[in-house]
Amino acid sequence: MSTVSGVFRGYRGYDVQQQLYNNYVARDGKEAADTYSARPGHSEHQTGLAIDVNEPSSDFDGTAEAKWLAAHCNDYGFIIRYKPGKEASTGYMAESWHIRYLGDPELCRKIEASGQSLEEYLGITSRYAQ
Ligand code: DAL
Ligand code: ZN
Repeated sequence: MSTVSGVFRGYRGYDVQQQLYNNYVARDGKEAADTYSARPGHSEHQTGLAIDVNEPSSDFDGTAEAKWLAAHCNDYGFIIRYKPGKEASTGYMAESWHIRYLGDPELCRKIEASGQSLEEYLGITSRYAQ
């Protein structure tokens, strides 16, 4: 299913993130889970500033809705947080459905125009210490 229906998932607390992460680790192993799921205590969803506008699935990639989101989310103060080719700095595979609220459309456009991930733009890393 790849239709934008609003917010698929927004805020989630530590317990829910832990449950999700543990399920992924049980299914795919820790190394694989770490490429697409934040460990509990590390998810943007716990801040309430991230929204998945679609069910998390690469089926969403390249759809008209994904293209609209990429073209217009900056105007509403959001960025596509995890882009292809940025895995080394963000720590995660691309997620065309996950947007992060920054609040300032100008800042979002500046980051977008820079071609950098948020980590690169801020000069920080999101890699785990271990
Ligand atoms: N899927 C993203 C990285 C999260 O778990 O917050
Ligand atoms: Zn997300």
